[in-house]
Amino acid sequence: KKTVEDFDVKGRRVLVRVDFNVPMDDRGTITDDTRIRAALPTIEYLVNREAKVILASHLGRPKGKFNPKYSLAPVARRLSELLGREVIMAEDCIGGKVEKAVASMKPGDVMLLENVRFYAEEEANDRGFAEKLAKLADIYINDAFGTAHRAHASTAGVAEFLPAGAGFLMKKEIETMGRALENPDRPFVAILGGAKVSDKIGVIKNLLGKVDHLLIGGGMAFTFLKSMGYNIGMSLLEEDKVELAASLLEEARKKGVEVLLPVDVVVAPEIKEGVGYRTVPVSEIPDDMIGVDIGEATRERFAEVIKKAGTVVWNGPMGVFEIRAFAEGTLAVARAMAESGAVTIVGGGDSAAAVEQLGFADSMTHISTGGGASLEFLEGKELPGVAVLNDK
Ligand code: 3PG
Repeated sequence: KKTVEDFDVKGRRVLVRVDFNVPMDDRGTITDDTRIRAALPTIEYLVNREAKVILASHLGRPKGKFNPKYSLAPVARRLSELLGREVIMAEDCIGGKVEKAVASMKPGDVMLLENVRFYAEEEANDRGFAEKLAKLADIYINDAFGTAHRAHASTAGVAEFLPAGAGFLMKKEIETMGRALENPDRPFVAILGGAKVSDKIGVIKNLLGKVDHLLIGGGMAFTFLKSMGYNIGMSLLEEDKVELAASLLEEARKKGVEVLLPVDVVVAPEIKEGVGYRTVPVSEIPDDMIGVDIGEATRERFAEVIKKAGTVVWNGPMGVFEIRAFAEGTLAVARAMAESGAVTIVGGGDSAAAVEQLGFADSMTHISTGGGASLEFLEGKELPGVAVLNDK
């Protein structure tokens, strides 16, 4: 696989696919700029080597139509602050006007194209559209790990028309997570949480062949507990996944993977700030209560395993961490990871947000910028946006 360092970029037009799909509030203010910061190494490298840097991204899901709500203009402003230099905001992402704007770029200039998803052709991975994007540049660099699980025109199709390579973020994501999956320091511990078992089936199946310990918390734990015969009260249940949960536990047993499920849970009458709550053993979950977090005994057991680990991969919160009283389990896992000497990897999405929010971001080896992409990576799938970078 080529990387940005394998190209002579001086004076050349370099199209960089980044994932600037960042959360914004109603007024267009960016509420988390992690993904913009994560793309800086590649952008700064190219600027310093006097390339003409043309950035492409999607934002949200505008369904193939122009919609000012999904304009990348606020991202251009934020990027400009972070870079300390002007970022030219293009009116469009393809066509005559953009081509003209690109023609007047000087080495070291940075331009951000408008949202590629304003065209339905982007998600359709339309060849003609990819060719129009390619027309803007001499070299294609994909640094959008967060969108690498999508086979779209700007993440995959365009590589057919230009010499292609990976940016620094893409490289770091693939190398760090790839090494954990292929050649981990042991013991290798995976911690899975989040609401649904159905989102994590592929990951569990892939990891069962690799990990030494599997720790399960979050809403998904209750479907497993149910499969073991526990009464789970009003807790989240995927009825149609109970049998599957039982068979996954059986498979783990056969493969010698130790699975730790909660031994106690925090229960509450409803998921709301300020409600009363208490901790009960999993054998005593009341009929009218909802499990909202792992209990203290579970936190201690999880932390013990995590602290002895060589590699820890974590995806999915242990409870409803958005409510402070129910964030203790997620906090305990983050703290144990931060205190362990292990290689610590946090899958994107909710778990990354939790780690940021709880203040442990700097203590982790790697926090993925991909939500869906990191899940598919952990499932062992080849991501289309990565596959196109393979040497032809
Ligand atoms: C993400 O945020 O997971 C990526 O940017 C992909 O966005 P999408 O799910 O709308 O394709």
